[in-house]
Amino acid sequence: MNIDYSDKIPNNVNLGSNRTLMRALEQWQPQFQRWWGEVGPLDTREIDVYLRTAVSALPKGWANYDYVKMRDYRWGIFLAPAEPGRKVNFGAHKGEPAWQEVPGEYRANLRWLIVTQGDTEPASVEQQRHLGRTCPSMYDLRNLYQVNVEEGRHLWAMVYLLHAYFGRDGRDEAQALLERRSGDADNPRILGAFNEPTPDWLSFFMFTFFTDRDGKMQLESLAQSGFDPLSRTCRFMLTEEAHHMFVGETGIGRVVQRTCEAMKAAGVEDASAIDKVRALGVIDLLTIQKKLNLHYTLSLDLFGSEVSTNAANAYNAGLKGRFRETAIDDDHRLENDFYPVLKFVNGEIKLVDEPALTALNMRLRDDYTRDCAKGVERFNKIIERIGVDFRLALPHVAFHRDIGEFKDVQATPSGVLVDAATWAKQKDQWLPSLADGEFIASLMKPVSEPGQFASWIAPPRVGIDNRPGDFEYVKLEAA
Ligand SMILES: [Fe+2]
Ligand SMILES: [Fe+2]
Repeated sequence: MNIDYSDKIPNNVNLGSNRTLMRALEQWQPQFQRWWGEVGPLDTREIDVYLRTAVSALPKGWANYDYVKMRDYRWGIFLAPAEPGRKVNFGAHKGEPAWQEVPGEYRANLRWLIVTQGDTEPASVEQQRHLGRTCPSMYDLRNLYQVNVEEGRHLWAMVYLLHAYFGRDGRDEAQALLERRSGDADNPRILGAFNEPTPDWLSFFMFTFFTDRDGKMQLESLAQSGFDPLSRTCRFMLTEEAHHMFVGETGIGRVVQRTCEAMKAAGVEDASAIDKVRALGVIDLLTIQKKLNLHYTLSLDLFGSEVSTNAANAYNAGLKGRFRETAIDDDHRLENDFYPVLKFVNGEIKLVDEPALTALNMRLRDDYTRDCAKGVERFNKIIERIGVDFRLALPHVAFHRDIGEFKDVQATPSGVLVDAATWAKQKDQWLPSLADGEFIASLMKPVSEPGQFASWIAPPRVGIDNRPGDFEYVKLEAA
């Protein structure tokens, strides 16, 4: 399971034994690098960054930390070890040996799942391209670049599957993954949240907390796939993904902490005294709540319609399972089961039992919401510990939705239905307004001295790889 870095494309899939595949990927490689140069992180060619690089696909000691010149970063293809005797664990094929090749009848479905996942990876790199110019510290800058290179690697992971298992049309799709652009009017990325701007670092932390967490849920369900190469690919991606959510959670936590500490120190007790709080050079908790409302709801849309025959088909076919499928105690076929779905019925929001198979998106979204809620509770612990009277909360799932049951109604963050006029009048209290965005933007001044942090964010409790507080995570001058 060790990774060979002597190959042109580092890998643990014995790429050298398949000349055709290797040549095809070696042709894609310079195009990937061109894409990275064009829309990847700005100003990074010459700098040295303290990055982790995968050295093995085994869970213990899988990565090394060292300075890497960004332009020399080695993207590669890494799969988690095969599980001997692995089976298809759900759906109509439950109990059959896991597939090592693509089952012909599911080819188009499987390709679409891989393309949709693959498309999110380069999209986030594009969205975060300019953030380095306003980093709150060298520690945070390093984390941004770590996330960026790993999203680049996740693109490699999906492109490997497309090239290795889908022939000509797989290669075409791999090409198209480098051609779509986040936010582009003519050729946008596939999913909504991946076309939204990430204008500032609070957005980045919200994105890694909420949107990367959607990524985690999708990868968890694809890791259950009966198509074994997809399962192994996703399992290794999840190892990397954990850090992205760490960046989001600790990022938001540090912003919340700094705000509360500044309020306490200045004797500002009222969290709604926005001007007083902002005058302290920190982001007021109400604005943090609005950012949270925005990113949570954009991410809810990524789960698709609550009731979906596509989701049922993918499950039945054994392509995409549930979160922690094998740990669930049921028949793993779901033909006779029901699941409660929040729906809009006769002008009211109601829980309705739907066949469990078609309600799989809803179920995964519920798992996601539970995961998010735990994180929000940890933020509330920080606020409580410092002694500020305020609580952050996830908004109701009917609030600010573009996809699914609630896309045509307007609801408040607490789930009360309102008319369009009320919505228009109040929306700036619930979602970041232009003025909020301008205020946050005014705080985004780069800090490049090791160990120093911008006014609006607390330092981390521990350094990456246990490095000391003033560690030089990024060497901006070429050595
Ligand atoms: Fe990713
Ligand atoms: Fe990620």
